[in-house]
Amino acid sequence: MMGITTLSLKGLKENDEKFSCITAYDATFAAVADSAGIDVLLVGDSLGMVLQGQDSTLPVSMADMTYHTQCVKQGCTRALVMADMPFMSLNTVEDTLRHAGALMKAGAHIVKLEGGDWLEEHIIALNDRGIPVCAHLGLTPQSVNKLGGYKVQGKGAEQANNMINTALMLEEAGADIILLECVPTSLAELITENVKVPVIGIGAGNVTDGQVLVMHDLLGISGGRKPKFVKNFMAGADSIQQAFEHYDQAVKSGEFPSSEFSFSG
Ligand code: KIV
Repeated sequence: MMGITTLSLKGLKENDEKFSCITAYDATFAAVADSAGIDVLLVGDSLGMVLQGQDSTLPVSMADMTYHTQCVKQGCTRALVMADMPFMSLNTVEDTLRHAGALMKAGAHIVKLEGGDWLEEHIIALNDRGIPVCAHLGLTPQSVNKLGGYKVQGKGAEQANNMINTALMLEEAGADIILLECVPTSLAELITENVKVPVIGIGAGNVTDGQVLVMHDLLGISGGRKPKFVKNFMAGADSIQQAFEHYDQAVKSGEFPSSEFSFSG
């Protein structure tokens, strides 16, 4: 049976149906999430923080991403597997093609690139080689040192317009999915309405086509300060599988994230 594809996600958007995504880093959790009905499994470079105990995603290597992508792929039969391109793996278009190719060979169905306008030529090249792309905009954690912290992005008319234009440009370049992290709900809504490809949000309100959370946040086992957009779905669940199912249902019904877990403009 063919699992979830970028095309089927686009079909969901056209039918006004929402889809769910969580991060996964190994075969066992991937299998549980897959059977709970989660549609997209993101092998996020957040593994640097939640698996390796680093204080940012910057130390994560291509070897780490390839290894964890292989693990997730082993546990997954239905979900779309998305793999993150780690910090400094996009220095040239040639680097991008080589690294994205390695992640696809490891089992990814789509690669995720953090950045902005400058991703255009990389996305065109990946598109030409038949590699699906998710463009990650808004708060891009690999740029945390430039952004001065994990802060909401796209506040104010100029920043918001720039992000809308970037999303349109990257869709035109061939991006199959846009991911928005930590942006005001009103901006996420404008972008979701104006692009034809599915938009996944995290800290972007319940207006996007899909939602993603880091698995450890969703299970309430991340240490440190809890970001506003994080909800513990383990509360009230009897098992991890049930927590994933509750999250999946809350996303698909539009109940999560409510305004309590979102940012206003
Ligand atoms: O690495 C990751 O887990 C991510 C999500 C937070 C979107 O990029």
